[in-house]
Amino acid sequence: MAEQFSYDSLFSAASRETPPGSVRHSKYDFAVAYPDPDNLPLDDLIEAVRTGFEREGRDLAYYSSPSGDPELRQLVAEKLQRERNMKVTADDMVLTSGSGEAIGILIQALTDPGDVVLVEEFVYLGTLNQMRRYGADVVGVKCDDDGIIPEDLDKVITEQLGKGKKVKYLYTIPAFQNPLGWTMSLERRKQVLDITGKHGVAVFEDDCYADLRFEGEDVTSFHSLDDTGRVVYCGSFSKIIAPGMRMGYLVAPKPVIARAWSFKSGGAVSQFTALTIAEIMKGNLGQHIEIQNQALQVKRDAMVSALGENFGSNVSWSVPKGGLYIWVKFPEGTDLAAVQEQVFEEGVSYYNGSQFSPTGEGSNYIRLCFGHPSPDTIRKGVAELARILQKIGAFTG
Ligand SMILES: Cc1ncc(COP(=O)(O)O)c(C=O)c1O
Repeated sequence: MAEQFSYDSLFSAASRETPPGSVRHSKYDFAVAYPDPDNLPLDDLIEAVRTGFEREGRDLAYYSSPSGDPELRQLVAEKLQRERNMKVTADDMVLTSGSGEAIGILIQALTDPGDVVLVEEFVYLGTLNQMRRYGADVVGVKCDDDGIIPEDLDKVITEQLGKGKKVKYLYTIPAFQNPLGWTMSLERRKQVLDITGKHGVAVFEDDCYADLRFEGEDVTSFHSLDDTGRVVYCGSFSKIIAPGMRMGYLVAPKPVIARAWSFKSGGAVSQFTALTIAEIMKGNLGQHIEIQNQALQVKRDAMVSALGENFGSNVSWSVPKGGLYIWVKFPEGTDLAAVQEQVFEEGVSYYNGSQFSPTGEGSNYIRLCFGHPSPDTIRKGVAELARILQKIGAFTG
């Protein structure tokens, strides 16, 4: 066999060994944030492809607008005006490959190594990883059931400024926070805007779960409460259609988009997907979201009652009014990070709290996602989780 060529001396200084990896599934999968394949709007998608391409299929011969399909941007702008009270037009946004790309390019545009960026004390792992990758000093702010605690936010910013640090922005997931599950109240949003404003700190609102409400009233977006251009915003079709669509968007003042765009590679997003989503938006998207949310509520209820049946009073959990996650607290000292792999091998997967924490604390918490499994699988899986934790002595109740 020919000797294999070695790239070892060719890698750039900035490159890091980060294999794409693969997602492993257990019998009872409460780790990944997938929707339920049974709830995908497959018929609508097939119909959308047909009508969209009968009308505009010939446009695939061209590279689309760099910002992404103008019609889809217009439809998204109208949805944001209607449902999130945002004063935006199609020109205030760019389409991205999922909101993950929006987050990645914005972080690159705003972060120099050593800059302080603020997050909720437990936060979406994907964002945390991107922030770390670009050298941010990620600092968590304490939260309660209403969202970020204003006094702690003020204290953290003041402390960091006192150390001579530059505090660039607060990244927040104010609706059905991942992993904590709460929605930040209007009062808190206003306070957070006041405090960050006082210190000249920008706000990055990740609103990808806003549509997944099955109880209670919507709270208006951060973006709608600011008229100075200080709030940038991203959203996604992953949670309301499917992650496999890979379609998201970034809304920001033009100079910010221009900087973020310099980190976008591969040109505009897929026009094939854009056309399909535009058709769905003109058709049954609202109805689909409603049906999906009803299914999510049944699953949440199944998980909440299964937790009640299988765990005693030493364990507590959130009861979110939407979204995909239940956040479970075990007594201090319980180490659910140490046994995560073993529990996975036994058939149940979760993420433990320390994975969402900038400081790596919180291994007595777990996040359980109720979006993918059926209610029956949820009931069996939670009982199984309790049985395994007992058996391996990780938690005896
Ligand atoms: C808070 C949050 N933001 C962004 C994303 C990224 O989603 P996508 O890139 O599929 O839009 C996720 C995925 O779980 C998430 O939880």
